[in-house]
Amino acid sequence: MIEILDVSKSYNDATFAVKNLNLTIPNGEIFGFLGPNGAGKSTTIKMMTGIHSVDSGSILINGMNIEKQPLEVKKIFGYVPDSPDMFLRLKGIEYLNFMGDMYEVPSSIRQERIRALAERFDLYGVLNDQIQSYSHGMRQKIIMIGVLLHEPEVWILDEPLTGLDPKSAFLLKQMMREHADKGKTVFFSTHVLEVAEKLCDRVGIINKGHLQFCGNLQEMREHFKSDESLEKMFLEMTDNA
Ligand SMILES: Nc1ncnc2c1ncn2[C@@H]1O[C@H](COP(=O)(O)OP(=O)(O)OP(=O)(O)O)[C@@H](O)[C@H]1O
Ligand SMILES: [Mg+2]
Repeated sequence: MIEILDVSKSYNDATFAVKNLNLTIPNGEIFGFLGPNGAGKSTTIKMMTGIHSVDSGSILINGMNIEKQPLEVKKIFGYVPDSPDMFLRLKGIEYLNFMGDMYEVPSSIRQERIRALAERFDLYGVLNDQIQSYSHGMRQKIIMIGVLLHEPEVWILDEPLTGLDPKSAFLLKQMMREHADKGKTVFFSTHVLEVAEKLCDRVGIINKGHLQFCGNLQEMREHFKSDESLEKMFLEMTDNA
């Protein structure tokens, strides 16, 4: 469960990247976070994961405050950042073992998990290559595998589907569904409205740091009193003109 309680953040004291944001994502839910470029999605995610501090408000993950108990909280979530260009000099397998060490994944189960995940994501054959030789999508997938290695309860994914080929995207969506169906939490940002429409139990739409809407698609239609597509409702809600 994720609780974002009246959170605000400004990078420059003049404008807010996120303003008075309130969101609660219960266990068992896939929550999609939507909004145009610069809306405040990654800023929110970076505050959830303790990368950026909050200016005011608080964020709880499974009841624990990310700023007060960072180490405990970091053990229970997995975070996939918006850019996968990290650890480029490491070989895939070195990065995965590094993640295994960090999260104390016992060596008895680690190799089997690495093999199973790498095979599912079609990366098993390149684990001995440096990550800098990987394509964007391959980098996305190796980061994802590193995150899944310690089987975190809460998944926080910043545009995880960008750059994935159809098979990998299908697989990841399926894994997100399975994870939520086990009573765990999935929070992800996306620009792909069809994905949000098909995959998410609820969506939040943010624009210029302000939450415009939070609910399921049915509630959004009622809000708009219409049968419009998610795309049309999204565009109306985030029309900056
Ligand atoms: N490190 C930073 N320093 C200063 N300003 C920042 C920083 N990161 C983000 N911003 C600003 O905060 C606002 C929100 O940015 P954010 O990255 O959260 O948007 P986003 O919704 O993730 O957009 P995108 O869809 O393009 O990824 C933008 O105005 C951006 O310019
Ligand atoms: Mg972003």
